[in-house]
Amino acid sequence: MRKTLVVGNWKMNQSLGDIEAFFTTVKASNFTDEAWIAPQALHLSKLIELAPKNFKTGAQNCSYENSGAFTGEVSPTSLKELGCEFVILGHSERRAIFKETHEELNLKVKKALVNNLKVIFCIGETLEERESGKIEAVLGEQLKKGLQGVSSSDVIVAYEPVWAIGTGVTATPAQAQETHEFVRKFLKEETELNAEETLILYGGSVKPDNAKELFSCADIDGGLVGGASLKAESFMGLYGK
Ligand code: 13P
Repeated sequence: MRKTLVVGNWKMNQSLGDIEAFFTTVKASNFTDEAWIAPQALHLSKLIELAPKNFKTGAQNCSYENSGAFTGEVSPTSLKELGCEFVILGHSERRAIFKETHEELNLKVKKALVNNLKVIFCIGETLEERESGKIEAVLGEQLKKGLQGVSSSDVIVAYEPVWAIGTGVTATPAQAQETHEFVRKFLKEETELNAEETLILYGGSVKPDNAKELFSCADIDGGLVGGASLKAESFMGLYGK
């Protein structure tokens, strides 16, 4: 039985004061659902210090090596040592802005898993790719190459259509469900993951007022949320609280 999971991706947002305010509100609200948050790497310790037990803290990226001469990189071993439980890999911003390749991401996924970090592996198509009928080819390539040789139950897939990220345009529940169904079928037929057990999250302009309908679709197991995860009231609103 797959659970419903909500993960906040804070991207390069939030000050230390914002984080303190977030958890002051959460703690005053008796919020006990399982919640995952990925702050900026610099703020990971702060979250681990402040977050109540129902929160898991994770990173937005990590290196494909544990240590060495990699100036500016974040070691998966150090993330684990610090108390992180997961890492987001392959976010479309990492792929588009930082030019991360399928091969590099595959190495990162494997290295994170070896370090006992859960992996949220992101995939998604651009509007141009969707409109030219390439969704399945694009998502299939991202899954096949990024998850090559990966069979771990610690992998979660996040489908985030690039055109829905930060735009206020959400995929309709029907559009999202159709794509999630394809992703699950692809995982079953073309990868080594256990497709029925793997959580597939939806991301892209998820908000308190559309979360319930999206998350109730058969193949949508929760959300990876940017903007609406930054304020505690809105984050808890994603759970219908
Ligand atoms: P928004 O929820 O702000 O659209 O961001 C989605 C996202 O990129 C989460 O990883």
